[in-house]
Amino acid sequence: MLPLDRPFTGREEVDSVAEVLGSHWLTQGPKLEAFERAFAAYTGAAHAVALGNCTVALQLTLTASGIGHGAEVICPSLTYIATCNAIFHAGAVPVFADVDPERWTLDPADVERRITPDTRAVMVVHQMGMPADVDALRTLCTQKHLLLIEDAACAAGSLYRGRPIGGGGNPACFSFHPRKVITAGEGGMVTTDDAGLATQLRLLRHHGMSVSDRVRFEVDAAVFDEHVIRGFNARMSDVHAAIGCVQMERLETILTERRPIAALYHSAFSHCRGILPQYEPQDCASNYQSYAFLTTKACPLSRDELVRKLRDAGIGARRGILTAHREPAYADVRRVSLPVSEDVSDRMVLLPLFVGMTEKDIALVIDTVLSLAGATVAV
Ligand SMILES: Cc1ncc(COP(=O)(O)O)c(C=O)c1O
Repeated sequence: MLPLDRPFTGREEVDSVAEVLGSHWLTQGPKLEAFERAFAAYTGAAHAVALGNCTVALQLTLTASGIGHGAEVICPSLTYIATCNAIFHAGAVPVFADVDPERWTLDPADVERRITPDTRAVMVVHQMGMPADVDALRTLCTQKHLLLIEDAACAAGSLYRGRPIGGGGNPACFSFHPRKVITAGEGGMVTTDDAGLATQLRLLRHHGMSVSDRVRFEVDAAVFDEHVIRGFNARMSDVHAAIGCVQMERLETILTERRPIAALYHSAFSHCRGILPQYEPQDCASNYQSYAFLTTKACPLSRDELVRKLRDAGIGARRGILTAHREPAYADVRRVSLPVSEDVSDRMVLLPLFVGMTEKDIALVIDTVLSLAGATVAV
């Protein structure tokens, strides 16, 4: 079966991990700092703070910003459920807004309609790496005095108006789970230009301890630290950061491989009436963490039948993003009206896309999709 995705790792990651194991600095050490520096430099953010995963990064960004009990945070329902769970576990209430029908990311007009006196933040998701309309949301958030947080879990390397996602000044949270374009095995990162937020996140991730591990272990004098706030253990280890450092060096190569595969899919499918690929706005570049399309009325098969038949043909296709409001975990908000999100979710298919796909693999995917999804229109 052609996999949906495959992490791109090699000897360099093994060597980097071995270096950490030989150094005895297994957590909160120099590799972690190097990964943070590399990520800040790449995105153009003033600060990058590494955490255990993206879910905890989103949750602690809210907590560090004083957004918790009684607060409403507007987010999409069409997202990986971690977005909403992070809001819930910060003590706030996720308020679902609908998405744009082409881009499948938050619709700024619908976000505006859902603002109440209790709204404190908007959490926008860059859907499978496709940048959302951040400037429109930033303008809205500035006018309404709301914090804009980017759930950039899937968006390392994506560009919005020529600038890497994460460099917009407001907090953006990334994931390094193996299903992302670069991985650390597990891991998360918050980028921000707000020095106060970065300091607070560093405290929260390490039990609220006033002195970092690095300082405690590297000075000879006795250190008398204290716990200044009630923190968490949300640390990323240096073993994970060691992988992340090498992956940062691979990022451009990975993007240079992924984007042309997406472009081949795009041009092959552009005249097929049975499917509608995700729209990439002119001023954005997705990292193509996933390649997704919607089935249309002209498709002879239902979405589920199409996924089954693709898998029967050895293509590891999957249905796409679910809607949180229709999951049992959010049954209490099931009646909210989100017609675009539901429609997009019900018709979405994901196709294999990974570094190292051969021309034969790509041709198999294209030919099988075209043969199953129906006739193409003449150009
Ligand atoms: C949009 C989105 N947000 C958050 C997450 C959570 O990331 P992590 O697994 O690093 O906690 C994911 C993971 O797939 C995601 O896709």
